[in-house]
Amino acid sequence: MRTDRPVTAPGGVPLLGHLPALLSRPLAFLDTLPGCGDPVRVRVGPREMYVVSAPELVQQVLADRAGYDRTGPLYAKIRAFLGNGLASCPRADHRRLRRIVQPAFQHALLPHYAAAMTDEAAALTAGWRAGQVVDVTHEAFRLTTAVAVRTLFSAGLEPRAAEALRGALDVLLRGIYRRVVLPAADLLPTPARRTYRRALATWHAGVAAIIADYRARGIDRGDVLSLLLAARDEDGRPLGERELADQVATLVLAGAETTSSALAWSLRLVAEHPDVERALHAEVDAGPAGAPARWQDLPQLPYTARVISETLRLYPPAWAISRTTTRPTELAGVRLPAGALVVCCLYLLQRRPELFPDPERFDPDRFAGEPPRGAYLPFGSGATRCLGDRFGLTEAALALATVAGRWRLRPAGTGPVRPVPRLVLSPGPQPMLLSGRVSGPAG
Ligand code: HEM
Repeated sequence: MRTDRPVTAPGGVPLLGHLPALLSRPLAFLDTLPGCGDPVRVRVGPREMYVVSAPELVQQVLADRAGYDRTGPLYAKIRAFLGNGLASCPRADHRRLRRIVQPAFQHALLPHYAAAMTDEAAALTAGWRAGQVVDVTHEAFRLTTAVAVRTLFSAGLEPRAAEALRGALDVLLRGIYRRVVLPAADLLPTPARRTYRRALATWHAGVAAIIADYRARGIDRGDVLSLLLAARDEDGRPLGERELADQVATLVLAGAETTSSALAWSLRLVAEHPDVERALHAEVDAGPAGAPARWQDLPQLPYTARVISETLRLYPPAWAISRTTTRPTELAGVRLPAGALVVCCLYLLQRRPELFPDPERFDPDRFAGEPPRGAYLPFGSGATRCLGDRFGLTEAALALATVAGRWRLRPAGTGPVRPVPRLVLSPGPQPMLLSGRVSGPAG
């Protein structure tokens, strides 16, 4: 076995390593990594991680569930908030949980969920006015959390409670990345820590109350929570109380922030690319004028789907999938100890010029055909591949088509978008000016 010493990324500072760069400008930092080595070692304070982005290495790590697991301090942090949810549980619990949760995402249920997506997209954009400046990142998040809450709990939540849960989730999602990369964030009694803890308590209490209400009424509401309550594992056991709450938290987190990030980036990219905007408008205008897009419209919206696919290539919400080595191993000739943090960086993978020529260019027509094998993995790969991929794609496409049918958006802020480091690659606040395209409130 050839064992090379791993190459360390340039630009680290004493003690903190690459942490300041990872916190303040993660994408610019990632852009310095290609050419350094694969894997390349990155230092985060006293810890180190190995970043991989070659398709065969990403594949090797994600396919080897026994050798690379969702364990270690990073996942311990994530579980402290999410609990032992399907998206963060170790291999030992994964098979059982996946069997239980999977039926809620079967294809036959999608039209049902899509109806909620159409309603929520229509409700959101109905409140918009021509000449108004909206933060599309915030609007996209409002949309996807509303859809998540509604498809999970259907009508079981009154608007005030839904709003409180959404607010708590926003605080948590902002706080969790800092806590993952900066463990000290939780040690000092700062106002930010108090806000975070209050949000965590609101979230746990809210979810527990919903579950208790469902149990008490014992009705099947045809939503995800009803399915999870009725689900049984191979031994005929239902999910325990805590397990159930953990899956709910996971599904909201895994579904809402990823999809909202995809939608917000796509709105921005379309606004910045007039040729893409024209093609998108032409496609949605061929459907019912100004009406919100529905499930049955999707076959007539192939270009819309390509815009979403290309957005997910340039800005994969799950920009980094992490694993921990369960035993000493070797990756591309580099020896890794047991317990090493390995990060599969989809952001770098999907921008490799040999896989996607002129990779920085936003070009939805790349997806007129199939992308090269192993080069495009916005939903991951292998046994833990995203369960909600079609859910997320459907939601983003319906929302993008609904917006494009009635509104033209133009960036209203000054300066470039600054991606905000959260667990998901979020575009940060994006003020955009609305102007109407057809008659109606748009004017
Ligand atoms: C554009 C939207 C989305 C993106 C880019 C995305 C991406 C991903 C990725 C990369 C993984 C793999 C993580 C890993 O291997 O550790 C994953 C897992 C997962 N996603 Fe998504 N996701 C999206 C939407 C959704 C939605 C809408 C839901 C549910 C409503 C969802 C639920 C899940 C779950 C439950 C897992 C864990 C699967 C497992 O470990 O068995 N995702 N997602």
